[in-house]
Amino acid sequence: MKQNIYDHPNFFSRYKALRDGDKGLNELLEQPVMKSLLLPVQDKTILDMGCGLGHQVRELLKQNPKKIIGLDISQNMLNEAQSRTSSSTVEWICSALEDYDFGTNRFDLVISSMTLHYIENLNLLFQKIYNGLKSGGQFLFSMEHPICTAALKPWEELNGEKYWLINRYSEESLRKQDWFVKDVEKYHHQLSTIVNGLLKAGFIIKNLEEPSPAQELLQLRPDFEQHIHRPPIVILNVEKN
Ligand SMILES: C[S@@+](CC[C@H](N)C(=O)[O-])C[C@H]1O[C@@H](n2cnc3c(N)ncnc32)[C@H](O)[C@@H]1O
Repeated sequence: MKQNIYDHPNFFSRYKALRDGDKGLNELLEQPVMKSLLLPVQDKTILDMGCGLGHQVRELLKQNPKKIIGLDISQNMLNEAQSRTSSSTVEWICSALEDYDFGTNRFDLVISSMTLHYIENLNLLFQKIYNGLKSGGQFLFSMEHPICTAALKPWEELNGEKYWLINRYSEESLRKQDWFVKDVEKYHHQLSTIVNGLLKAGFIIKNLEEPSPAQELLQLRPDFEQHIHRPPIVILNVEKN
């Protein structure tokens, strides 16, 4: 089952306010690592899966790619993305990733930021992405870390130290969390399932990253101290064989 929570009016306005407010996890922890792993995209054909408000699309446009497809299940997100991006290089498509026809040998880069924890069958998706990429093509994605999707109300304090409580890590299942609204649905996968799914599809794994805040960032943003205790995000950079 696919939940389209970003079209929920209350969720959408609160998510948009969060992204338009102070810099957060995406800008300060995730994007610097994603950018460091991204190969040059000038004249390349790109698919951004779960493009949301189009932040990543606009970054990629700075390098003059040939074409970008911004794919998202939420029409709200796509409308907003389109209104913030004036470029004939981008095609916006409203579709669930699960229903999208990736075709064969079409893309130089498939990229996805903080979306794949909404997908139930990652193995199937990885296979379709592999087929859709050209030989030597790059698949770069971030998603919520399995340590986070396996936790519900996780923080505990013991002797003044914070601990993160994990629940049923080896049980791969739908998890409901309250984030802006009740019962936001995510799928918990073990890290081994993600990595093995990529290998089974035929990808070569180049990097696996678990970004955490450096000292300079902690001085600017003491609230990021929580990310020292557990990784909020996992990033994988893989290549079509
Ligand atoms: C956390 S947002 C990330 C947006 C954007 N990638 C960014 O980092 O700014 C997740 C996005 O994934 C989209 N999404 C969730 N499930 C999806 C699915 N099954 N198919 C396509 N898009 C999906 C949501 O609508 C939302 O725009």
